[in-house]
Amino acid sequence: MGKLGRKDFISIRDFSKEELYTILELCKKQKPLARNFTLEPTHPGRVLACIFHKPSLRTRISFEIAIRQLGGSSLYITDKEIGIGHREAPKDVGEVLSRYVDAIMIRTFDHGMVEELAANARVPVINGLTDLLHPCQIMGDIMTIVEHLGTIEGKKVVFVGDGNNVARSWVNAACRLPFKFVLTSPDGYQIKDSFIEGAGKDGNLDYEWIEDPLEAVKGADVVYSDVWASMGQESEKAERMTAFRKYQIDDRMMSLAGANSLFMHCLPAHRGEEVTDSVIDGRHSVVYDEAENRMHIQRAIIALLVPTDKEL
Ligand code: CP
Ligand code: NVA
Repeated sequence: MGKLGRKDFISIRDFSKEELYTILELCKKQKPLARNFTLEPTHPGRVLACIFHKPSLRTRISFEIAIRQLGGSSLYITDKEIGIGHREAPKDVGEVLSRYVDAIMIRTFDHGMVEELAANARVPVINGLTDLLHPCQIMGDIMTIVEHLGTIEGKKVVFVGDGNNVARSWVNAACRLPFKFVLTSPDGYQIKDSFIEGAGKDGNLDYEWIEDPLEAVKGADVVYSDVWASMGQESEKAERMTAFRKYQIDDRMMSLAGANSLFMHCLPAHRGEEVTDSVIDGRHSVVYDEAENRMHIQRAIIALLVPTDKEL
């Protein structure tokens, strides 16, 4: 087992506040070294299998580069090759891949399948997005907030849009770190009560759902956005476009947030839908910093999960 003392990275709630800060601290330390090519390759020969059942720009490229920067290499695998759950059971895939590779990153639909894969793999399994959660995204976003605002503690993060995988991972982060998380969405697109109740019992969650977006963003330190129809919800797109019309982040909405507030978006963005060009290209926007930090935070996660030669 690596330094974190945990095998997998599947949900932010699996980690304590101290463990999350260990990841963020290593990320902060490694980032300048990676940028000037002086990072020590601590994981020579290690192989990361990257399994994708959904498309990706950031997750794929940032994970593949991150493992290379540590001295290892990656394999890009789609469902055509493996067919997890239909050609072969997650249990067998986990057992077999553990004989070949040193870690597995997976992006798929069914969160339970990732948990089953992890339960049967002897190597770390990292969640690169499921329909339920997107934990690596939020870790990179927290790194970005710390860089721009000094800390996330005591801040107000307002997620404008669908109560989706990204929003749920924000709730999980808010269970562990002391900040306020607000979701503003149309009625019917909230995060399920059962998820919020479970999170509330598992940490000091400061969460609020507010239907009116203009009310919700008042005094926000971070205004966060994501697409209105996530991957797998394409057939609901027209209906969602109507439901979310009032939730487009424009200059007027940003002016209600704090003067030094950040605009954040996990990307890919649908410009002209959930956000205007003027906001995503404007002075509050840190979206490309977020994209870059995906690589830095994931490198720290890999480095802490996968044992080095000395730790074996
Ligand atoms: N934010 C994010 O996960 O981007 P990709 O879907 O391009 O990986
Ligand atoms: N909620 C989006 C995030 C993409 C990174 C999706 O699941 O498609």
